[in-house]
Amino acid sequence: MKIAIGCDHAGLQLKENIKTLLVSLGVEILDYGTGDSCSVDYPDYGERVSDAVSSGAVERGILICGTGLGMSIVANKFPGVRATLCHNSFTARMGRLHNDSNILVLGARTIDERIAAEIVRIWIETPFEGERHSRRLEKISIIESKLNDRNRE
Ligand code: RB5
Repeated sequence: MKIAIGCDHAGLQLKENIKTLLVSLGVEILDYGTGDSCSVDYPDYGERVSDAVSSGAVERGILICGTGLGMSIVANKFPGVRATLCHNSFTARMGRLHNDSNILVLGARTIDERIAAEIVRIWIETPFEGERHSRRLEKISIIESKLNDRNRE
């Protein structure tokens, strides 16, 4: 699996830890930055990763900022992106089983490293359940199409 990963300054340390874990899980990583602790704007990095997922360049993405809130707002603007902000193993599992999450968002200032690693491992390994959840995701796609049509008018 190929995963794009990005963060702002608040998420830098957690991103580095997660990259080590991803390598051990056999995941191919594309790191879209940021690469140092200088203060940056999360939308710039959220856009890069979300665009890579939305365009199909990568299968999934991981975004990290201080709370995970800003990155969630950015990511869910992109067509086809289903970004889920997860705080524990339950939300990580449900985000895959029910929402077919393709971007995992983490708040580096809200969870510790051990929980973050557990969330990432579960999010990587849990499949989408399909069935009634596919119908619901299809409804989200229809909403996206309606909004696109409206924006074109
Ligand atoms: C940066 O200070 C902080 O605002 C950012 O990391 C994030 O939490 C925004 O939602």
